[in-house]
Amino acid sequence: MQAPEIMRPLEARRSGPLKGTAEVPGDKSISHRALILGALAVGRTNIVGLLEADDVLKTADAVRKLGAAIAKDDNGAWCVHGVGVGGFVEPKDILDFGNSGTGARLVMGAVATTPITALFTGDASLRKRPMQRVLDPLARFGATFRAREGGLLPLALTGATRAISVDQVVEVPSAQVKSALLLAALNAPGCSRVVQDARTRDHTERMLKAFGANITIEQTDRGEAISVQGEAELRATDISILRDPSSAAFPLAAALIVPGSEITLPNVLLNPRRTGLLETLREMGAAIEIANRRESSGEESGDLVVRISALKGVDVPAERAASMIDEYPILAVLAAFAEGRTTMRGVAELRVKESDRIAGVARGLEAIGVTVEELPDGLIVEGRGGDGVKGGATIATHMDHRLAMSFLVAGLAARDPVAIDDWTMMRTSFPGFRTLMRAIGADLRRPDR
Ligand code: S3P
Repeated sequence: MQAPEIMRPLEARRSGPLKGTAEVPGDKSISHRALILGALAVGRTNIVGLLEADDVLKTADAVRKLGAAIAKDDNGAWCVHGVGVGGFVEPKDILDFGNSGTGARLVMGAVATTPITALFTGDASLRKRPMQRVLDPLARFGATFRAREGGLLPLALTGATRAISVDQVVEVPSAQVKSALLLAALNAPGCSRVVQDARTRDHTERMLKAFGANITIEQTDRGEAISVQGEAELRATDISILRDPSSAAFPLAAALIVPGSEITLPNVLLNPRRTGLLETLREMGAAIEIANRRESSGEESGDLVVRISALKGVDVPAERAASMIDEYPILAVLAAFAEGRTTMRGVAELRVKESDRIAGVARGLEAIGVTVEELPDGLIVEGRGGDGVKGGATIATHMDHRLAMSFLVAGLAARDPVAIDDWTMMRTSFPGFRTLMRAIGADLRRPDR
């Protein structure tokens, strides 16, 4: 895989107690959706707490090219003047989504039922990721496309001239695919139904309701059935975005393994479809308290108080995968610092993320002295206890922000330093990671040459 032009290594060393408050940035999934639904609404949507990271800024650029006006005001809020459902204009330039599968796939859905042609591309990582999973169901609405062999980016998508509604079962356990279809349904006459067995994140459904879409959800024997009335009129609304639990996972994990630590992570999104890691960590014996539970823009949140803990290995149930799909790399690192074996199965999806995360995590853990078995659909990690991880290696991150942050966390508690080959991809989801981690006491530095 083609690496970034300039690789910037970073090293983490065994650190003193981590203390203080870690204000992680806004949720990435919700940030993408706020921009896209804002662009499809009539009127002005104000967004507070938008994640200003590369992935989300690429989506902002894309919806701008599709005709929405987007600006940041003096108070840091973002406002989107939408064009209305069906109002996207043909972009004069290629839509480049950088590293972001979410941005690319959701915007494909939003374009699929509007009669325009748009060209989609991304970075070397995104150009390896499967798009057929979204293109095939979007074709049923009447969209056509021309992709590279294997359904890879770059591709051209032409939205349906006369879109038709669909009744579609989504077999792949992906919120991105589900969301793409729900967005396509907005401009198809009649009612479309999307059925999914896996309980993937439901931010699109919640936000569609907030924008006034006619959406109903019911349980069926094939899974959850979501019905959306097409030719919808979305009304602009104000959105306040909670802090990203998938970003919170990194300082939280660090506080669990660095001796003497206690940190607070305020106002973290606690949507029940995103809290699988917290559930798993509780089973592992982690000391995590949740205070001040509250609600904002139809989503729940709370303050997490996390203390150093003696962790033990567990079997992670495969049914929990969707609710913690982005958290497996950091869970695998924590499993290395636990006593006993941790088994993770049913997560073949990890092979098609920003990198093959099963392989990347396995190679990384081996390099720092941990025994790990790579399964086709998961990992088995033999824990070495709180003080047993050797460290002393430079980890290949394969353009994957979550591998980068996971192995830096490992370095904060391993005996010898752990370096990563490049930290720049962290900008895709958590641009302030280094500053935030240093502020709570993490020793992150440029490696000596
Ligand atoms: C996301 C869904 C997940 C997740 C990604 C964000 C979303 O991907 O890994 O980081 O915002 O819908 P899949 O839908 O491919 O599982």
